[in-house]
Amino acid sequence: MRKKVIAGNWKMNMLPNEAMAMISNLAPLVKDADSEVVLCVPYTDLFYSLLTAQGTNIKIGAQNMHFEEKGAYTGEISGKMLKSIGVEYVIIGHSERRQYFAETDETVNKKLKAAFANDLKPIVCVGETLGERESGKAFEIITNQTQKALDGLTDEQVANTIIAYEPIWAIGTGKTATSEDANEACKKIREKIAKIYGQNVADRVIIQYGGSMKPENAKELLEMSDIDGGLIGGASLKAESFEKIVNYNK
Ligand code: PGA
Repeated sequence: MRKKVIAGNWKMNMLPNEAMAMISNLAPLVKDADSEVVLCVPYTDLFYSLLTAQGTNIKIGAQNMHFEEKGAYTGEISGKMLKSIGVEYVIIGHSERRQYFAETDETVNKKLKAAFANDLKPIVCVGETLGERESGKAFEIITNQTQKALDGLTDEQVANTIIAYEPIWAIGTGKTATSEDANEACKKIREKIAKIYGQNVADRVIIQYGGSMKPENAKELLEMSDIDGGLIGGASLKAESFEKIVNYNK
């Protein structure tokens, strides 16, 4: 039985005082959650968020990292740096980073390896554009992205990778994939992993859905057979809405 992982992705939102207030409000509301609760916050909120989340079941993640440990990479943050302050999770290859910051399957793969080298839990994003979906290429795109991201990892690392299936056309648009479509895509990703790494590994991989997940549709999505959690943008900015998603089963 896979434990669900419900992760918020704040993107470039929330100042430290807002982050601390949100986490303080959220903590009592999710303390009995059956799922793993994660908030992936901007770098400038990490330390404040870690302090505020201390003693709660809320885990803190970053939204990106560099694949090198240190060096002349102005403006970048390494996995080692994240780990050193107590960060546990890191989002890798979000579609916004692929689209606006030249993230490629190759850098995603390097970052994933660096995340494991630093004992961080990676959430790797894959997803198709609307055009790719309409031309019938969605499954090919997302399974290829998955295969390239995981290339060269050990079976154990693959089993411990969280994959977030996020159709790009559903991110921040209010459009959600139907629960059947989202589940089918997650299933295809799991089948691909099973083909390469075996069914035992595939059965352990957490595959989240992301893209306009909100309190109104979370339960339906999260009860599907192959959807093991959510990566939530807009609805993770407020404790009241994020709490409802975390507690979808209560
Ligand atoms: P959204 O974002 O929930 O605002 O659609 C999801 C994401 O980009 O991770």
